[in-house]
Amino acid sequence: MTSKKIIGLSFGRKNGNSEAFLKAALMAAEEEGVESEIIRAIELKILPCTSCGACFKNAKCPHDDTDWLLDNTMLVDNPLIVAAPVYHLRAPASLICVTEKINHFFFNNPHARDRKILSAAISVGGSGYDGWSSLGLPTIHIFLQHFSTLVDQVQINHCADRGAALTPDNAWAIERSRQLGRNLAKSMKLPFNQVKYLGEDTPVSCPVCHCNIFYLEKGLPEIACPVCRVHGKVSHTGGKYQVAWDADDIQNPRFSAVKEHEHLEWIMRHASEEIPQIAMPETQAKIKQYQDYGKYITRGKADK
Ligand SMILES: Cc1cc2nc3c(=O)[nH]c(=O)nc-3n(C[C@H](O)[C@H](O)[C@H](O)COP(=O)(O)O)c2cc1C
Repeated sequence: MTSKKIIGLSFGRKNGNSEAFLKAALMAAEEEGVESEIIRAIELKILPCTSCGACFKNAKCPHDDTDWLLDNTMLVDNPLIVAAPVYHLRAPASLICVTEKINHFFFNNPHARDRKILSAAISVGGSGYDGWSSLGLPTIHIFLQHFSTLVDQVQINHCADRGAALTPDNAWAIERSRQLGRNLAKSMKLPFNQVKYLGEDTPVSCPVCHCNIFYLEKGLPEIACPVCRVHGKVSHTGGKYQVAWDADDIQNPRFSAVKEHEHLEWIMRHASEEIPQIAMPETQAKIKQYQDYGKYITRGKADK
């Protein structure tokens, strides 16, 4: 019996479908001897970042429960399962709000960037046909890839009303979620360097987040994962497409310590170029002109 427990983080309705699939995974993990605890994001106060700057002063967000959620997920040395519904093609705003408020956690805990927490993801869409859940898993990854290594994931579709997760049509998805729980429980017992991704892959998928949404940075034949920024070169031989992925990008994807360090250096360099330009009298005159322009529609409260 391992002393670690799995944290199940649901962004869905209380007793909703995400929670049911999450519980299926946790029940199966328990059969493997791993205990769990559940956090319901919907019971917490989660607000968007307003760029107020408070977290730069003392590495805390004073506005809501996001710090509490992150304290209990990314800072505890426990594996994490995120289960989230799809809202308008992607994970719900609450998950995106949590993601945008993650940065100050790395000031105090740079080791989180080693991404040694094991994770799994369950994304649940009510429809899901014609790409209606296409950004569910990728948006969960914008959160998870900051601090964890993925063991398994599943996109479940055609599961809308509360209770639908437990209908006969979705028996496969309950079984798949149980498999995900077992995969995570078994991976926890391995040394970190032996942990492997155990989920399905599509013919072309990012070797880090295992999603298959790509963007063209320069143009074909190069593709890149918009989350992990792992680059690959597509080739076509013998009637088959292949992708040669960049080995360094796999080792050091966007949210790794190495690439985040490069990003911070860029931000500091950029600030040293930008700040003197903002201070220039001609820029200051334009700033005043733009601030003074415009008629605001308000709800009666004084404008800031
Ligand atoms: C605001 C809103 C937007 C939604 N948008 C989508 C969508 O774009 N694609 C989809 O497949 N399902 C969509 N759904 C359906 C939910 O993903 C589905 O009902 C899911 O089972 C809810 O999970 P829960 O029971 O854990 O809350 C949406 C639901 C809501 C409330």
